[in-house]
Parts: sequence; structure tokens; C-alpha cells
Amino acid sequence: MAEVVQCSVHEGVAVVSINHPPVNALAWQVRDSLLTALECAEMDSEVRAILIAGAGKTFPAGADIAEFDMPRKEPWLPQICTQIEMCRKPVVAELHGTVLGGGFELALACHYRIGLRSTRVGLPEVKLGLIPGAGGTQRTPRLVGAKVALDMILSGRMLPLDQAPYRIFADRLVVEPEDLRAAALEFCHEAVSKGPRPSCERREGFADPVATQLELTKRAADEADGPENARREAVAAVEAAFLLPFDAGCAFEEAAFADLVASDQSKALRHAFFAERRAAKVAQSVDPHPSQIKTLAILGGGMLASQLAVAALNAGLAVRWGIADSDRRIAAWTDVEDSLEDAVSAGDLTKQVANDALKRLICGTMPDMIKNADFVIRAAEGLQRSDMAEDVVCAIAVAENVDQIGLRFARPAHLSRLVEVIEGPRARPDQLESAIALVKRLGKQPVHVRSSGETIGGRMMAALHRAADALVDLGASPYDIDDALTKWGLELPPFLQRDATGLRIVGRVERREGGMNWSAVLAQAGRTGRASRQGFYSYLGDAATPVHDDKALTLFDKHRADTNGVKKTDIVPLILGAMVNEGARLVDEHVAACASDIDVVMMTGHQFPRWRGGPMKAAELHGLFRVARTMQGANHPDKALWVPHPRLAALVRNGEGIEALTN
Ligand code: 3HC
Repeated sequence: MAEVVQCSVHEGVAVVSINHPPVNALAWQVRDSLLTALECAEMDSEVRAILIAGAGKTFPAGADIAEFDMPRKEPWLPQICTQIEMCRKPVVAELHGTVLGGGFELALACHYRIGLRSTRVGLPEVKLGLIPGAGGTQRTPRLVGAKVALDMILSGRMLPLDQAPYRIFADRLVVEPEDLRAAALEFCHEAVSKGPRPSCERREGFADPVATQLELTKRAADEADGPENARREAVAAVEAAFLLPFDAGCAFEEAAFADLVASDQSKALRHAFFAERRAAKVAQSVDPHPSQIKTLAILGGGMLASQLAVAALNAGLAVRWGIADSDRRIAAWTDVEDSLEDAVSAGDLTKQVANDALKRLICGTMPDMIKNADFVIRAAEGLQRSDMAEDVVCAIAVAENVDQIGLRFARPAHLSRLVEVIEGPRARPDQLESAIALVKRLGKQPVHVRSSGETIGGRMMAALHRAADALVDLGASPYDIDDALTKWGLELPPFLQRDATGLRIVGRVERREGGMNWSAVLAQAGRTGRASRQGFYSYLGDAATPVHDDKALTLFDKHRADTNGVKKTDIVPLILGAMVNEGARLVDEHVAACASDIDVVMMTGHQFPRWRGGPMKAAELHGLFRVARTMQGANHPDKALWVPHPRLAALVRNGEGIEALTN
């Protein structure tokens, strides 16, 4: 096996190359070898400058996220950054690829940076519920100011190194990849005469202290009430950079980082990171680089087809759109044109990009359009309705050339992230790989599903609604249920959601076991939802603001026996319990491959908060034993809700986490 860090000396420059595919993550083994290489280079009298580079496709893209679940092991990244910064010989970072998180912090600790123009940089830690933990909150604002530093840290976005204001991070840029090494070696020789330049001593980013303080005050106020702890800590850490000496600021960052790593929010977001990648995998992968799809044929003239066409054009694909009806062909073209124009007006696309996209679109007859396409999708408009949630209605698109793979897009297809990739009985792994690659190319999240009969999201949402109804059966108020779930992080809680859909529709499809169909009860009393300004809630004013309504509560009391009610603190565990029970059933029935796939579906297609990690991870973080105990205390005739499924009971008995729930 190749060394994870290789070192060689070229005319007085020690080239320290990190070689740890796929993204050169700074795992312990890398850090340990890197530190040794740096110490050797500093002591070597032949070496006058040190160049740190990443082998393969990128300079390190960050710390190793998997290690955050393990005990911390020295040398830590901040120690290496300090070692670099204090080195008596100039240290230069050679940047290419995606220089992210700890990788970017490593680069910032170097005295100079030379990079390829195509390099993208960023501090995405907040997406993992963390803040930069290797000096990023202290060095970034020193170089570029509090505003840009906070934009980077709070957005977590990947940004172009060759554009202002990020250009400041590079001392020199190179256009062609093949020229980078020679330019970097030349730059190292120049750096010898300049000498080391520690970032910790720079303060040009704080040149205007009044503007800095104003920016910090504004950002602190913006984040004050948000649910995500990392964002508040990020603002505090950047403020520390401005107000404290460098070492004290680093100590603040380190303590905040340690707290965040141990927090449930970060555990949930780290789970989301790996779960999304796992969900996109085919079990027996045949080809790590599936063939590129450049031209996509879409067959069908309906709404789904047009949303797909827009998504594919936005992703840079050529689209051959086959529509049988010639009149519809003209209207369809106009639909796409309008959609692209809307995106230009909203500032999401430039006029030039929209024009280029339209040039890649051809409309014609179906057989003609299939010719020369790399992949064909039949956009079937036969919609599958999930039980309750109107806005998660799915559609099926079938790859015509194999007719064995279903692509179920959450609607609207050009905006929603979730696509369930359904493996038909005769689907080949290479065909699945192509379908998954296409979905990724469209900028969406594929979830590989082995059965086409049911939607994971539909089943989980139905469990949530059944549990909410059962809690009302047991005496809880819908307002308390919605309130508890909103505080927990759900954007649209169940009773508000039903009012929005309309209670006549919901009441017709609701199936209850041993309880009232509450939506139908309200609809029969003329309270048909938000459109009629009365449903579970009453709606006031032009903005149709929902308010609690005693008349609705009286209706419930008329239809339910005296009960002891439900403790408010049990509402969330009981809803999660019903969902994790359904999740266990979905895995047991081979509809879902594993618990984390269910979480991905709920986070990307059903607005479950990512910082909760989806319902399965949220139940685990709450404590599966605690959830199961609360379930056992709820006595309801619908046994599927709260009698723990054998697979869930086994997890609890064995003290296992949800990763053990697989088929
Ligand atoms: N740690 C561990 N594994 C990582 C990783 C990381 N930082 N980044 C990527 N990987 C793994 C992925 O899990 C995946 O593994 P798999 O093949 O077994 O599923 C593999 O590398 C390839 O990743 P992608 O499929 O995402 O590859 P892409 O080419 O699509 O994207 C990327 C590359 C843009 C680098 C993307 O992987 C990414 O955004 N990674 C995360 C970057 C990040 O968050 N860095 C900050 C980490 S926290 C940190 O640094 C703390 C510090 O402040 C102390």
C-alpha cells in the first residue's frame, strides 16, 4: 500500500504530498505522517522551503468525518497547523480540487498559497453541525474580514478561488493543471527570499473595527433564535478572533468545536452526510465510473416531462423531448422557455446561460427523439398518491431502454431533491449505476429502493398522521401536537398540513384502526380546511393566520370517551415511536434496505429537519429504550403504532443503534 504522505526534495524544496484517496481526508494516519514529514523537512539542512500538496483529484477536502465518532487521537489538526505556521522555513500550499474544512484550514496555516484557477474553497463544517476547528474561525477573518469569513462559515458553500473576494487566499493562480507543480516549485524559491509569513499575525481583515463590530452584532442577532447551535457558535468564534489574542481565540474555537462534536445536532448531520452517500449506492457495484450521460431523451408531454426537461437543461444535458401531439410540442417549448425566464428574473441564471440551455433542447416525435440518446426516460403521468401529503405526490419515469428501472421524483421535479431509484426485478447493476449517475447529474439525491410497490415516504407520513390522530383519540389537543412537532423542527405539522390539503380529501383517504377519522368529523361539520377558513384551526385575516378554535375542541370531546390525556412531553417520543416502528416494518418487508435510507427520504423529500437526522436517527438520539418505554405506556387499539415491532424490540434488547436495522 502506498504511503499516505510522501516526501521528496527537489532543488531545496521538500514536496510533501498527501495521498489518501478519495478526497485526502485528514485522518489520523495522514496527520501522523504529515507531522513527521514536516519535522524532517524542517530539520533537513538541504531543504529551504516546504510545499504541501494533495495527490489525485484534490488537496485535502477536510478532516475525516468518520473519526468524529471515535476517541480523539494526537496529533490533532490544530497542532499541525501551529507547527506549520511556526516553521522557520516558508511553507507553501499547492491547491487544486475542493479545498474544504480542515483542508482549507491547513492551507490557511501555510505561509503562502498557490492554486489552480479551477480550485474551489470552503468551510462546510456548519453543514455537519460544527464550526471550523483547526483555526479557521481565527485565520479566515484575519485575512478577509468578518463579513466574508462569516459568509463562508455560515453558508458552508464551495467558492471559486479565482474570484473576488476569495482570490485573496491565493498568492498566485495557475490556469493549466500540468503547469501547477512547476509554478509551485518556482514560487517556493521566491518564498525563500520572502521568508515565513504567519497568518496568525495578519490583521488586514480587521482594518475597519467599527464595520467589523457592526457586522458581528448583526450576524449574532440573525442567528439568535435559529435552531442550529453551530451557527451561533460560529459568530461567537469570529467575534473572539476580533476581540481576543490569537491563542485565546483558538482556545475558544477548540472548546466550542469539542462541545459541538458531542452534540446531537452534529451527530444527526454527520449521519445525514453518510446516509445520503450510502443511499445512492448499488450493492454490487460494477463500475466506479459509470458511462457519462450527455443526451437525455424524455418522452411525454405533461407537467413531469417539462419539469424534468428544465432540470436536465439546468444540469447541462442535451434534451431530446418526444411528444406525440404536435400542438402540445409548441406549448411544451413555451413552458420550458417561461421556466428559464423565471429563473433569470429570480437571479438564479444569467440570460446567457438560459439561452445556451434552450439551444440544447429539441422537440420532436417520440421515435425520432429516442435516436442518439444515451438514456431515455418515459415521464409517465399516472400519478401515485401518497396517503396524506398532497405535496409529496410522486410520479414514475421509466428508463425506456431497459424498462426495468423506475425513477420516482418528488414533486415539483425541477425543485425537489429526492428521487427514488426503483430496482425492477431484471435491472442490471450497470443500468442502475447509470440511472443513479443521471439523478446525481440532475443535482438530486438518489435513494436506491428495491421494491416499487410502495413509497417509503408515503408509508412514513401515513404513520405520522395515524399517530397524531391516535393521540387525539387519547385526549391530546391537535394544537398541542402541532406545537410540540413545530418546536421539534417540523415545518408543516400534521393538522396544519391537513387543513392546507382540505379535510374532505384527507377524510376520504384516511384509514383508521380503532379510532375516529377526525378529518372526516370536521369536514362533516362544515369545517373543510383552510380554504373554508375553518378546519382543525380557524383562519383569520387576509393572511389566513391559523388560530386555535374552541369549537373544534368541543367537536373532538363529543366524539371521544373520557381520557387521561397525553403528557405533552410524550407527544414527540410517541410520534417518533410510531415512525420508527413503521421504519422497522419497511426494512423487514424489504421495501427499504436500511434505516438510514428512510431518513434520507424523509429529509430530502418530506422536509424533515436535517439537523434531526430524519425520524430513525432522531429516535436513536432520543434513546431507543426511552422511546420504546413511552410506546409501551400508550394504550391504543391500533397496535401497529406503539407495540414495538420485533425488529425494533431486538434493537432495544441488544442495545444497538439504527445502523443495525438492515435487510
Ligand atoms: N471525511 C470522510 N470521508 C469523506 C469526506 C470527509 N471529509 N469527504 C468525502 N468523504 C468520502 C465520502 O463519504 C465518499 O465515501 P464513499 O465513496 O465510501 O461513499 C467519498 O469520500 C467520496 O465523496 P463524494 O461521493 O461526496 O464525492 P464527490 O466527488 O461528489 O464530492 C466532496 C467530493 C466535495 C469533497 C464531498 O465529498 C464533500 O463535500 N465532502 C465533505 C467535505 C467536508 O465537509 N469537509 C469538512 C469536514 S469537517 C472538518 O474538516 C473539521 C475541521 O474544521 C477540523
